This record gives sequence, C-alpha cells and structure tokens, in this order.
Amino acid sequence: MNVILTQSYEESARKGAELILDAVSRKPDLLLGLATGETPVAIYRRLCEAYQAGAADFSRASSVNLDEYVGCREEDSYRRFMDENLFSKINIPRENITIADYAAPPEAEVTRLRQFFETHTVDLQLLGIGANGHIGFNEPDHDGLEAPVHISPLTQSTKEANAHWFADGAVPDRAITMGMGDILRAKSILLVVKGESKRAVLRELLNGGKVTTNNPATFLLLHPDVTLITEESLTV
Ligand code: PGA
Repeated sequence: MNVILTQSYEESARKGAELILDAVSRKPDLLLGLATGETPVAIYRRLCEAYQAGAADFSRASSVNLDEYVGCREEDSYRRFMDENLFSKINIPRENITIADYAAPPEAEVTRLRQFFETHTVDLQLLGIGANGHIGFNEPDHDGLEAPVHISPLTQSTKEANAHWFADGAVPDRAITMGMGDILRAKSILLVVKGESKRAVLRELLNGGKVTTNNPATFLLLHPDVTLITEESLTV
C-alpha cells in the first residue's frame, strides 16, 4: 500500500484530485469508480475547477458509483449528490454514468449492476471509509462479506453518521452497494481517509496487517495497487 501523509484534508483532496486527473489524462476513456459522502467533496470540487480551467476533459470517461440508498427521496439520493458535486459541472456524458436507481425495485437494480460488472472493469476506484471500517456500504460482519453487488442493511452507527445529510434525519434502512469483489477487481484504488472518527479503523489498516470482515477496509491489504491518502495527525 502506497501511503501519502498530508497536513490537512485540503492537501489530501488536492493530491487525490491530482491522481484522478493524471489517470484521466493517461487514459481518457477510463472507468472511474466514484464515492459519496464528506470525503470526496473537495476532490470533486477540484476536478470541476480543472475542467472549468480547460485542464481536464471527461468527454470519453465513464463512471460507476459505489452505492445508493434504497427508497430515499430524490433530494437525499447519492444521484443528487453526484449531480450537484460533479456531474453537472464537468463534461462526462450522461449516458456514461452508472449509479443504482434509488426509486427502482432494488432486486432489479442488483441484477442490472451485476451484469454491468460482468462486462466492465473499474480503472480507478475512489473510496472513503466509514468510522466502522465499511467501504461502500459493505458493513462489518463477523460471518462474512458479499463479493458481488447486493442490498446491504445499514448498521445503526452508519445511519447515525449519515443522518445529517437527510432533512428529516431519517436514513433508509438499506442501500445497494458494490461488493468487496467488485471493489477488489478495480485496477487501482485510491482510498482517502478524512475525519477523527476514522482513527481507529485507519490504525488497524496501517498497523494490523490482518484482514478481517470486522473491518472491511482491511481487505484492501489484499490489493496490489492501493494508494491511501490521509492526514498525518490521524495516524499517530
Ligand atoms: P464520509 O463517509 O466521507 O462522509 O466520512 C465515508 C463513508 O462512510 O464511507
């Protein structure tokens, strides 16, 4: 694992955006795996700025999102988050965007996305991490983790961590998520860790060397090309 330590979240976001922009310029028709939440916000802002300055071109790029809530309102959906933070401000073609439909029957969406991953390989997967070690919505589970796209019941701690995104504070009980297999098949992974609440799972990832379903992020130790960017202060 290639670890890049920074002095601030803004520096993490700058370095993360640089890696993504570099990947897009080297392979203009790449498939980006994208994440939502607090962590990627400043990364996406920098991608938009690069596009608006004429320094980036997404016209041949494609994207697939890690996850989406099941049965949420449009304004609370990750689809809306992505439109507001990235898609509406860069020139990625609409037809090149793949994200689970929050309003569709979830079983049908799982089938559609499993078919997508049978024929597509993510070139660069951007990840955040949950305070409980989840990546995507692959929640810790001592019995096992699912490899393909699936419907994931959300843990109480995840619902509490994400409640501030919802006007009424009511987080859906379930989400559709890429599975651990889909994530680990990405050619390269960029994990950005932001926030004090991630300190314990980050330490386990950096120091433990042990893969455990109780901290799904530790599965990234099995991948040959992971870059982790985080503030140095979170690692001590
Ligand atoms: P955050 O969430 O970026 O909002 O901290 C990350 C995650 O839950 O994966």
